[in-house]
Amino acid sequence: MTQHISITEFLSNNLTGEHRVALTEMLHDIVNACKKIALAIDQGALAGNMGSLGSENVQGEVQKALDVITNDIFIETNQLSGYVAGMASEEMDDVIEVAETQRQKGQYLLLFDPLDGSSNVNVNISVGTIFSILKSAKVKPGLADFLQAGTQQICAGYALYGTSTMLVLTTGNGVNGFTLDGSVGEFYLSHPDIKVPVDTQEFAINMSNYRFWQEPVQRYIDECLQGEEGVRKKDFNMRWVASMVAEVHRILVRGGVFMYPIDSKLQSKGGKLRLMYEANPMSFIVEQAGGASTTGIQRILEVHPNGLHQRVPVMMGSRNEVERIAAYHSKKIAR
Ligand code: AHG
Ligand code: MN
Ligand code: MN
Repeated sequence: MTQHISITEFLSNNLTGEHRVALTEMLHDIVNACKKIALAIDQGALAGNMGSLGSENVQGEVQKALDVITNDIFIETNQLSGYVAGMASEEMDDVIEVAETQRQKGQYLLLFDPLDGSSNVNVNISVGTIFSILKSAKVKPGLADFLQAGTQQICAGYALYGTSTMLVLTTGNGVNGFTLDGSVGEFYLSHPDIKVPVDTQEFAINMSNYRFWQEPVQRYIDECLQGEEGVRKKDFNMRWVASMVAEVHRILVRGGVFMYPIDSKLQSKGGKLRLMYEANPMSFIVEQAGGASTTGIQRILEVHPNGLHQRVPVMMGSRNEVERIAAYHSKKIAR
């Protein structure tokens, strides 16, 4: 029988460098938080987790939406190691302060989207949790300490609550995926050294926004849709789950491109997806797996953030396709 490697064993054998101890401890808490979230999602309506805020279940108990439950779990669980000096969540306006007693060991920042794809929760489709770890310049960090480019991340990962619960992560040395064995409550290495195929015939985009897109994106998708008869001379397939975690996971497993471009409706916001909680961690993972990630005009990891909740256009996945999309934006490939 094959001996599976647990995530704890894997981290103890593979983490190296100055952040080794801190990452071991922080990832221990993150893993536990994701296990708790998986359970809360799994119990769903039975635990009264599917309600909207303020509503009551049949027992007269106040129901909590999963967005809030998962956010609370992540904040509480990740204060235990003592290495997290501050946190920021997609669900909270401001930086989350960590009490002095809980940040005595280190100076790291944890940024997260506790429940990605939340519109899918009530229809029982895969959702996820995304996280990113940065080093803090201060013991008691303020907003400015969080505003670092994605290239500064020392770790990023996601949990996917899908047909299996998985945890996929990078510490800047490739990407590895672990599957939760619910019977023992442990993640085991199931997808070692994930690589995104450089070419693909699959794209993911919300097609209903077509008329609002900019010309380079319309051109790229038009050419995919023309298939064998068009300039690409091959047919393309399309998927749209509406959970970025699920889309990126599919790309890591079998290639593809995921796009949430800027469009005329999103112009004032800068995009749909959030740089610090979605675009940066996912770009770090995709690049570490040999893929690429761009806003169309800039490598996402090099965007210097101007706010915690900044949004950016996102196009990531199989390298040759992402480079083509960027070339359409810069007009390096003429029509
Ligand atoms: P969140 O649930 O954290 O707000 O993120 C949802 C995001 C992303 O996961 C997904 O790709 C996209 O929004 C879906 O957008 P549409 O509603 O346009 O399909
Ligand atoms: Mn999200
Ligand atoms: Mn979310």
